[in-house]
Amino acid sequence: MADTAGHKNRGELRIHESLDELATDLADYIAELSEMSVKERGFFAVALSGGSLISLIRKLCEAPYNRTVDWAKWHIFWADERVVAKNHEDSNYKLAKDGILSKVPVVPSHVYSINDSLSAEEAASEYEFILRQLVKTRTVSVSETSDCPKFDLILLGMGPDGHVASLFPHHSALDEKDSWVTFITDSPKPPPERITFTLPVINSASNVAVVTTGASKADALHLAIDDMAGAIPVPARMVHPTNGKLVWFLDKSAASKLDGSQPDE
Ligand code: 6PG
Repeated sequence: MADTAGHKNRGELRIHESLDELATDLADYIAELSEMSVKERGFFAVALSGGSLISLIRKLCEAPYNRTVDWAKWHIFWADERVVAKNHEDSNYKLAKDGILSKVPVVPSHVYSINDSLSAEEAASEYEFILRQLVKTRTVSVSETSDCPKFDLILLGMGPDGHVASLFPHHSALDEKDSWVTFITDSPKPPPERITFTLPVINSASNVAVVTTGASKADALHLAIDDMAGAIPVPARMVHPTNGKLVWFLDKSAASKLDGSQPDE
């Protein structure tokens, strides 16, 4: 693994030789943060995304993690969710449930899926309401600098267009400053209706990991990480935890267009 701390102030880069190596490092990282948060706060508040991320964190269901992680202390959220029924193939909840959550002893009432009987707008505002209750009880911590929730960890993927969560390039959702959770009905990546954490929430987290693999992400990753004076930033470039730590979990193909990357680096 090439481990470049503080690459151009865009966080820590962990570039892996293989997806298996990446998955092991990612599982170690999540298990370590879970242990630290449970020790410090008694809870681990983690937000998931959809896409390839879920298969890359599947090692958490295997030894040693399935036994060593304190699953009962996990509170699980979604950084973004597609507004479809929970048993629909497009549901991020279903993806995570089938892939991971059904295989480890998480507490069902600590899994905060969206209300799938509501419109996107209603689902976003209800999700924010639930989050506000959990911040009041400090199940989810609170930012020192804003009233935003401070997740112990937010796990994001990145699309080939540089989107993270359901924050797409040039979309007005990127400018949302007041809401914690917003909605869109015109996602360029299907399905069109989604809810998503806003940038202030993502950037208030203690830890944010962006997990990105494959050559189709190389251009967007270059735009997200390297110096791009004057260019309109891709959404992934706007991920910048104010008082937290940002780590990029990459494979060599995704990292192949970063400044200074060598073919056999
Ligand atoms: C979604 C995801 C989305 C995803 C990226 C990357 O619901 O669509 O949350 O933000 O993380 O599109 O997906 P891949 O890793 O599958 O390319």
